[in-house]
Amino acid sequence: MAHITASVYTSHVPAIGAAIDLGKTHEPYWQKVFDGYEFSKQWMRENRPDVIFLVYNDHATAFSLDMIPTFAIGTAAEFQPADEGWGPRPVPKVVGHPELASHIAQSVIQDDFDLTIVNRMDVDHGLTVPLSLMCGQPDRDIGKDSAKNNGAWPCPVIPFAVNVVQYPAPSGRRCFNLGRAIRKAVESFDEPLNVQIWGTGGMSHQLQGPRAGLINREFDNAFLDRLIEDPQGLAQMPHIDYVREAGSEGIELVMWLIARGAMSDNAPRVRHRFYHVPASNTAVGHLILENT
Ligand code: DHB
Ligand code: FE
Repeated sequence: MAHITASVYTSHVPAIGAAIDLGKTHEPYWQKVFDGYEFSKQWMRENRPDVIFLVYNDHATAFSLDMIPTFAIGTAAEFQPADEGWGPRPVPKVVGHPELASHIAQSVIQDDFDLTIVNRMDVDHGLTVPLSLMCGQPDRDIGKDSAKNNGAWPCPVIPFAVNVVQYPAPSGRRCFNLGRAIRKAVESFDEPLNVQIWGTGGMSHQLQGPRAGLINREFDNAFLDRLIEDPQGLAQMPHIDYVREAGSEGIELVMWLIARGAMSDNAPRVRHRFYHVPASNTAVGHLILENT
């Protein structure tokens, strides 16, 4: 039986990827961000999973505004880093886990969550920046062409894309319950795999309009507290509260409830917590929770 051992939550700010790729991590501005992930990289080395189920949102990269699935599971054998306008990030391709992904699709769809099955997709900063933050930069040929890349991420990754780009986005409650269905699916997979589930995006940020640059430390820290202690209560929070308190892009935080819903019903062990402002126009939040 496969099982979920831990969940990881992190912002996925694209400028963090650019700072890594351009060798700026030791500049004073960025050092403060990356210091918060030193523990996490060590933890990843010591707790390397067999598979990462990575919840993120596509930022109109693989899906255009022509077609937007609410929940999409990547079942392919591999996924290439996307070109978001400056060429693909010089990071390894993402190796998938088609067997586990197909099993989860089967189980979760039969549990009444309608997933879109994606057999071909490039993955954007929403997925690659969390991998960089948690795993560091794998050995690689320096160069723009990711096809030349010799490095590899530490394990297969199942991309799971959630629509938070165009309304209506799924509710926190639905995300939490979907996480529970994913847990059930993982636990019925007939191989002894150690699976981590990651929720990405957030924290407070607004990239557009008169409130651009909005940061709400109080809301962000209360969100982290409640995610740990009262996820089911937090899952009842309506969208309008995310947008009002955490800015228009703060709605990305609903994705964290998928990862939290996939955790055991017992209280988790908090291995790491980090919060920092700013990175680009965004607050950075990060948690590592282990199942006990
Ligand atoms: C930015 C973009 C994101 O997708 C995000 O989650 C945070 C910040 C940005 O463009 O700065
Ligand atoms: Fe984002």
